[in-house]
Amino acid sequence: MDQEKKKKRYIRLRDQIKQLMSRCEDRDARMATISAVLYHKMDCFFWTGFYLLTQDNELVVKSYQGPVACMQLAKEKGVCWAGVLENRTIVVDDVCAFPGHIACDSRSKSEIVVPVRDTSGKVIGVLDVDSKELSSFDNIDQEYLEEIVKLIYI
Ligand code: SME
Repeated sequence: MDQEKKKKRYIRLRDQIKQLMSRCEDRDARMATISAVLYHKMDCFFWTGFYLLTQDNELVVKSYQGPVACMQLAKEKGVCWAGVLENRTIVVDDVCAFPGHIACDSRSKSEIVVPVRDTSGKVIGVLDVDSKELSSFDNIDQEYLEEIVKLIYI
């Protein structure tokens, strides 16, 4: 997808998600809805979902769309943990080149992980998106996915 088309697609999805969020304040319902919208509306998204921190400081999968994924991620290893520990979005062009990457499905080739912060600004987990193509994600994905995860708490 060219850059302009991708941007326009994201703007439409962001506005659609904003509207959907206004119908229900439940955090888990909002996350499930975001996973579904992104999975079904973005062409190359092969897996979309959330990993959240538990009280025991584990990263455990919540709502997602796509192939069956790892339920709990090995401690402080891989892309999702990097997003939590570094408190920033991580874009991975080639998952094989990312030290400690956790391969839940060998078809995943590139990945973006966006921290989810609660109303106090604390990181509670991440949105994770995988693609079957190399280098699927760039600064446009980062910009709009960061906006979209903020809608969980509007
Ligand atoms: N690849 C992730 C694990 C989650 S799956 O991609 C769904 C990681 O390295 O943390």
